Amino acid sequence: MQVQLLDFTTLDAQLLMMVLEWRNHSDIRRWMLHSDEISMENHMQFVKSLNNRVDKRYFLVQREDSYIGVIDFTDITKSTAEIGIYANPELRGVGEDLMRTVIKYGFSTLSVKTLIASVFADNERAKHLYEKFDFIETNQTDYNGRKMITMELKK
Ligand SMILES: CC(C)(COP(=O)(O)OP(=O)(O)OC[C@H]1O[C@@H](n2cnc3c(N)ncnc32)[C@H](O)[C@@H]1OP(=O)(O)O)[C@@H](O)C(=O)NCCC(=O)NCCS
Repeated sequence: MQVQLLDFTTLDAQLLMMVLEWRNHSDIRRWMLHSDEISMENHMQFVKSLNNRVDKRYFLVQREDSYIGVIDFTDITKSTAEIGIYANPELRGVGEDLMRTVIKYGFSTLSVKTLIASVFADNERAKHLYEKFDFIETNQTDYNGRKMITMELKK
């Protein structure tokens, strides 16, 4: 698998628009913590704000000539990072390549010891993917009345 990681802060207007469309797609939005539709203005402000952040990194993942999804790292510390993942809504079966990319970047580039994912309990596709990569449930919480599971992978 050959993938390229394109940092959000380097994307041109066309790619930023594509990412915004994915982010606002109903299949993705419903599984995000902030599920309101995002305006172009907010999206641009958010991307700009990433320039000043050392604790957050967002990447568009390119595999050969297609853009397969987005991976992100937030709350990055010396030992841990929260991860996020979503696939290009027009593609299926790219989750494994996205997850391999998350794990490699997290453990090799960020050099953290633990990757943490928060997933809604009814998000079967995401849970299945995390479990396939040996993430283990460590906690359950309530998020605005929805059950949220914390899953972790240790190096
Ligand atoms: C999570 C995500 C990245 C997975 O991508 P993907 O691997 O391309 O997704 P697929 O639809 O191919 O499904 C992956 C696996 O889940 C399985 N699956 C699909 N629907 C399922 C369901 N309802 N219950 C259990 N497993 C399911 C598939 O059979 C497949 O398993 P396999 O690889 O063992 O055959 C993608 O679904 C996505 O972007 N979802 C929206 C955003 C999101 O939920 N992100 C995670 C937030 S925590």
